[in-house]
Amino acid sequence: MEISLQDIGTKEKYKLLTGLIFPRPIALVSTFSEGGIANCAPFSWFNAISEDPPLIYLSFNRRTDGETKHSLENILRTGEFVVNLVDESIANEMHLSSQEFAKHVSEFEKVGISWEIGKTVTHPRILEAPVSMECKFYKRVDIGPEREFIIGEILMLHAREGIIDPNSFYVSETQFWPVGRLSGTKYCSTRDRFDLPNSRFEKTGD
Ligand SMILES: Cc1cc2nc3c(=O)[nH]c(=O)nc-3n(C[C@H](O)[C@H](O)[C@H](O)COP(=O)(O)O)c2cc1C
Repeated sequence: MEISLQDIGTKEKYKLLTGLIFPRPIALVSTFSEGGIANCAPFSWFNAISEDPPLIYLSFNRRTDGETKHSLENILRTGEFVVNLVDESIANEMHLSSQEFAKHVSEFEKVGISWEIGKTVTHPRILEAPVSMECKFYKRVDIGPEREFIIGEILMLHAREGIIDPNSFYVSETQFWPVGRLSGTKYCSTRDRFDLPNSRFEKTGD
């Protein structure tokens, strides 16, 4: 089967990209909306793109009423945000927080998670999250009317005790169990890990 992406609609392209390119990591983005309402929502068109400077990207489509996502609005207004990583312990709350609530409604109260204000940003970080990254807005990349793409720089990282070795900075293989997004309402755990031996092709001169 061959599909020319130029000949299909936006919805079909979305289906193909989210159905084929997975699992995706999940950023549970937390921000304050105007009026100090603590907002959070998951975004899985998300990944790290550079370590120096330490950059991540987020990509947003529009709310079903065509409006800008509240998270994006808050990021662009304040130039700051927090990315909380999602493990098994908060997967359900993350999923529930994706509902399109009105601006005056706090997802924190709706789904039952708590926050503390960041150290380097004036936005809430999720206390139940295994890892939270305080970020400042770095760049906006113009893509098109359906998509907004932004890059953020990580300023500070908070991690639950035991996840990161403070001396080596290695991340524990037994204390961190992030979940990944598949498509639609499906997720995967990261428990079924496997190792490939460090083999190399022998030099043959070819
Ligand atoms: C696991 C998951 C991942 C999601 N990823 C994205 C994404 O990458 N981009 C996006 O625009 N919406 C994504 N959504 C939908 C948003 O979470 C949803 O539109 C949310 O209501 C936005 O909230 P806000 O308007 O408060 O920012 C995702 C939803 C779920 C459940």
